Amino acid sequence: MQFVLTLLLLVVVALVTSSPIRLQAEDSHIISAGPKFNHVARLSKGNKAIFTINTEKDGEHPVCLRYGSNTAGHLLVKANGHVQSPIRFVSNSNYLCSNATLRTGINSLVLESQEGPIDLDYIDVHGASPVNERGATLPYLEYEAEDATHNGKVIGPDRTYMSLPSEASGRRAVQIQGSGQFVEFTLKKATNAIVVRFSIPDTPDGSGNVVQLNVLSSSGDILAKLELTSKHSWAYGGFPFSKHPNEGSPHHFYDESRGLLNKRVEANEKIRLVPSGSDLVYTIDLIDTYDVPSPYKKPDQFFTVTDFGADPTGQRDSTNAFFGAINKATETGKGVWIPEGNFAVSQRFQVNKIVIRGAGPWYSTVFATQAYGIGFFGNWAPNPSQNVELYDFSIIGQTQIRIDSQIDSGVGGAYSNSLVQNLWIEHTKCGMWLDGPFDGFHIVGLTIRNVYADGINFHKGVTNSVVKQSIFRNLGDDALAMWAEQEPNRNNEFSYNTIQVPLLANGVAIYGGESNKATNIYVADTICEGGGLQASNRFGARLLSGETILADSTIVRCGAPNRWNTGHNGAVWFWSLDGPIDQKVTVRNLDILDSSFAGGTFWGSQSSSIHFSDVSIDKAPYAFEVESVTGQAYFTNVVAKNIEKTGIHSCQPNFKFVMESGCSGWNSTSC
Ligand SMILES: *[C@@H]1O[C@H](CO)[C@@H](O)[C@H](O)[C@H]1NC(C)=O
Ligand SMILES: *[C@@H]1O[C@H](CO)[C@@H](O)[C@H](O)[C@H]1NC(C)=O
Repeated sequence: MQFVLTLLLLVVVALVTSSPIRLQAEDSHIISAGPKFNHVARLSKGNKAIFTINTEKDGEHPVCLRYGSNTAGHLLVKANGHVQSPIRFVSNSNYLCSNATLRTGINSLVLESQEGPIDLDYIDVHGASPVNERGATLPYLEYEAEDATHNGKVIGPDRTYMSLPSEASGRRAVQIQGSGQFVEFTLKKATNAIVVRFSIPDTPDGSGNVVQLNVLSSSGDILAKLELTSKHSWAYGGFPFSKHPNEGSPHHFYDESRGLLNKRVEANEKIRLVPSGSDLVYTIDLIDTYDVPSPYKKPDQFFTVTDFGADPTGQRDSTNAFFGAINKATETGKGVWIPEGNFAVSQRFQVNKIVIRGAGPWYSTVFATQAYGIGFFGNWAPNPSQNVELYDFSIIGQTQIRIDSQIDSGVGGAYSNSLVQNLWIEHTKCGMWLDGPFDGFHIVGLTIRNVYADGINFHKGVTNSVVKQSIFRNLGDDALAMWAEQEPNRNNEFSYNTIQVPLLANGVAIYGGESNKATNIYVADTICEGGGLQASNRFGARLLSGETILADSTIVRCGAPNRWNTGHNGAVWFWSLDGPIDQKVTVRNLDILDSSFAGGTFWGSQSSSIHFSDVSIDKAPYAFEVESVTGQAYFTNVVAKNIEKTGIHSCQPNFKFVMESGCSGWNSTSC
């Protein structure tokens, strides 16, 4: 009997673990946007559907497709840009399977119709795993220093603007000084690479210190020697800030250093961070530990930058070699390969109709030898680059302060029908600043940290473009913004992104535009003049229209002091500054936790079309706060608890809270 039960259990386990992940075609990113109806996405010739797939295992995965078509034909299949066996289909409606080679973690899977229209219903991917519901599916584990073992001093919690703990994740960090002090982490998973978020003091002249931090194993072996510099942190004076300490108001305290460990450290072992050769105080905020895969291999038919004279040791400038390889690949319709190495460059690269690949962002790094001397740029609108694909490398700038007159982004310009995946961008002004109009840009799996302005900005006339599964930390402005200046941005989506510590402005901001959405976001710790999510008519944007959606997200310790209006804004907020908000804004399924100011804030002139549903606000001074605006907002199933002052803080009788059903915990009012 027991044997039979065990067998049954095994069968059940096998069935459960082998059940595929089903991805609906209408939820994929269709380029160019075809009609989606009856839960089906129609691909005409040349259209593609881009799916995001998470797996826990490298290798071949069966991918099965349910479709309907009046003709026979085939779909071109690309996984992470690599061509797979095509899917050949017959006329009628059917279910058929093919194989795709996928990586551990996040993959892009492109299905491109080579013939007439095919209606895609869904795909089933075997051996795939669900993605995290909120935020990116992270390729690392994060450990806060204050939760680790240490013999230093905890600073914080403190949210006072311009205090050192206020910019730490969770508003706490650990200070260690001298080689006798350490922070020690017990690993939950094997790791071979580490990122340390830290702050060290600036020099009196603002030029910055450079020190060393050793990463030690429990037996005292050095696993990595990380260089920590304060060159890329510390900003002073008024916006957009300077490197002059005598201007006062210091902030932007933290930066990061990353390194591969010289051996893989197993789960349950410890690693220890110890200052080396310096008496400065090291403030350690957190570490991220990675289990980085082996370097990816050069695909056939790619031109390698070293064959054009690029120097992988980073000693000689490789700019001309990159130009050479890019020109040759563009002429011949082939790709560029950036092998393992650190490549010094001093200019931007213009790219169009090209694929550029690296061995992975931990192995293939393009770094700037001077500020503004880097970036991969599409042609300027109205003639955007087409069919650009960038994969698997790092772009590291030399910028130390924000200068808005300089063009300075890891990726910039205009890109239609293009895809970037698994790039790592740091120390440029913006991660990606994209000026439209352009259509159909797919951005997936990026890491953008320690930049001086926006993480990614979709600026004017960007349509049908997405940012997914990307990671943002320590930005100098909005982590993710859509700014519909002059021309509306339309039908764009920011989803499944993780955002930490934007130093100024918001996690996600939608400034005007038509039918855009932000969903499945995790955002924590906004610092100044920003909240977790914002939809506003600001900055001269074309007014919000269609349905704007902010949904399915978690917002932690957000809201911030703000020089306008009430002097602070809430964790989600709406500002009808340039014109009324009178077209639907849907705010659905949010968890707003431990807000610095109100859970939600309404500012502006007139706002009549914001609908909250299924929102929980846990711990905030007020659930909602109103300044000057007139109109109303609608609330269904909005539940507040741990409200420290009153449910509603408003001195504006002409702004009404219309509570439809299921609202509780925020009845009390104050003015
Ligand atoms: C997929 O791969 C498996 C194992 O390599 C193989 O047995 C199967 O026939 C392949 N299926 C298709 C449709 O190519
Ligand atoms: C207001 O108070 C009433 C009566 O106690 C309660 O039923 C309702 O849920 C409260 N509404 C809100 C928004 O707190």
